[in-house]
Amino acid sequence: MKELEGNVAVITGAGQGIGRDIALALGDHGVDVAVIDVNLATAGETVAMLKEKGRDGLALKCNIVDYEEVQECFREILGWREQIHILVNNAGITRDNLLLRMGEDEWKSVIDVNLTGTFNVTKVATKHMFKKRYGRVINIASVIGQMGNAGQSNYGASKAGIIGFTKSVAREFAPRNVTVNAIAPGFIETAMTAVLPEEVREGMRRMIPLGKFGTGADVANVVLFLSSGLGSYVTGQVINCDGGMVMA
Ligand code: NAI
Repeated sequence: MKELEGNVAVITGAGQGIGRDIALALGDHGVDVAVIDVNLATAGETVAMLKEKGRDGLALKCNIVDYEEVQECFREILGWREQIHILVNNAGITRDNLLLRMGEDEWKSVIDVNLTGTFNVTKVATKHMFKKRYGRVINIASVIGQMGNAGQSNYGASKAGIIGFTKSVAREFAPRNVTVNAIAPGFIETAMTAVLPEEVREGMRRMIPLGKFGTGADVANVVLFLSSGLGSYVTGQVINCDGGMVMA
């Protein structure tokens, strides 16, 4: 995608998993990437992979729950590059438990990282997008925010919250030529899902019409569409990347 060449992307949680795959896919299309993660070592590894592709990258240690850390992080990014074209809010965690057993810490940590973190980063990044009257914001939600899942009330609430957040800010930002969309992945092969027992994985596979799990590259393809000119008339949408698990 030629028009992505020279763009700058910021991706949270891109030290591994889906975020890393998104960073590498954007890198393949000529995008330089600021990789934000709580884990600086893995963020550095993603940047090294981008550099192997001939792209540039910047690894930043940042806990997105902390608004001041996020502000400091973007000061560094804007010292590195003068414009941010693409923001992918990808960092997310799970702390699964049945509601009756769920502790306040399990509830709060998931809402803090997944939802408040998305708020913090979007608020700081879009201030700069507004000035340039251009931006593509992509929030990684989940099918669990649409269909629910026993043991994931905290995660489901955070991801449903991301969907409501996406639609509201899409309306606010549209006059500034900043699009805001969400991707709802289904079951994607990553460290987050590799730990599940085989019988659980088999049960999930039966729920997927396409009969197989997705990959980070599948999610990255949707990011490429939304962040390129091909997706320029799409805003406020939730695009499922789930092999057909959820059909609205
Ligand atoms: P992962 O656990 O492999 O990677 C998440 C990354 O976020 C890690 O590098 C971690 O260090 C970072 N991170 C965690 N807390 C952070 C914080 N406070 N500040 C900055 N960085 C932080 O996860 P995975 O599987 O790659 O998931 C990425 C996103 O996709 C998440 O939002 C997840 O909820 C979502 N998702 C994943 C699915 C899957 O099947 N793996 C399905 C649907 C959605």
